[in-house]
Amino acid sequence: ERTLGIAVLGLGNVGSEVVRLLSEHADDFQARVGARLELKGIAVRNVTPDRGVPIELLTDDPAALVARDDVDIVVEVFGGIEPVRTLILNSLNTGKSVVTANKALLADYTGELAAVADAADLDLYFEAAVAGAIPVVRPLMQSLAGDRVDRVVGIVNGTTNYILSAMGETGADYSEMLADARRLGYAEADPTADVEGYDAAAKAAILASIAFHTRVTASDVYREGISSITADDLASAADLDCTIKLLAICERVTDEDGSQRVSARVYPALVPLEHPLAAVNGAFNAVVVEAEAAGRLMFYGQGAGGGPTASAVLGDLVSAARNKVHGGKGPDESIYAKLPILSMGST
Ligand code: HSE
Repeated sequence: ERTLGIAVLGLGNVGSEVVRLLSEHADDFQARVGARLELKGIAVRNVTPDRGVPIELLTDDPAALVARDDVDIVVEVFGGIEPVRTLILNSLNTGKSVVTANKALLADYTGELAAVADAADLDLYFEAAVAGAIPVVRPLMQSLAGDRVDRVVGIVNGTTNYILSAMGETGADYSEMLADARRLGYAEADPTADVEGYDAAAKAAILASIAFHTRVTASDVYREGISSITADDLASAADLDCTIKLLAICERVTDEDGSQRVSARVYPALVPLEHPLAAVNGAFNAVVVEAEAAGRLMFYGQGAGGGPTASAVLGDLVSAARNKVHGGKGPDESIYAKLPILSMGST
């Protein structure tokens, strides 16, 4: 029976769930993949005996872990840009497929990473980087690859949606709700990324890149956060039969001369109560896609938290593992980057 070696980088909310489910459902994974998925090591910042996994699996040397010959797939749930970018490049350069949930990294470096993965005929999967458990990366990159997407509008940050929902429902205090979101494992290590819209802007860059087959980075995205929104603002919105949501809006814009560009922006917006996005509350996310032939599609579910994000990571892991066993490769760079680059602009 064939075995594939798995390395996991990071043992926070998501990493712990990935490791737990991988071991608890080992037989299912084996049946689905056609090989046993064997955890070879977990990289953590500090090796301590209280992490809930056998201590011999832990290492504080991720570079050595990804270089091991018996590792076939690297799962990255550390977050942050460096040293993760280098670790992923080293993984790809030594023959490992990579599954990552790292939106900040992908927003700026997908082109570089995907090019290295393609050259080595390896997979780079990142469903978990946008909207947690909700399948949205794969639908855009694969299911809708034959259509023409015009617009993607979503609530893609669970922390801010949790805060805004709670403030709207109970007039609750902003900082209290932020503390709750952190306790529940939704917020980033530095929650400024959530409340100031950086996390949503990174996701908007990824969505715009794959929806419009172009290359959008986080700095291309207009961004406003929710830190200045008050319970009074939400009450005023309710008087207008609206609510306030932090929206990520990515659009294909055709100018009068027929030329095209992409507009991507994140800001707290007034959403009429009858709009389906107004009913998305708590840490839930939703993404509405409008495409020429498909019409309007809506993807809804849990967008943050250990379990939901682990679900997306593990789906990618199964795909990468199946490709290792049976041959084949996930979508490559050409699906989203080799078409003409559309220029950015606000509308
Ligand atoms: N901090 C993120 C959120 C986690 O609140 O949505 C999921 O990417």
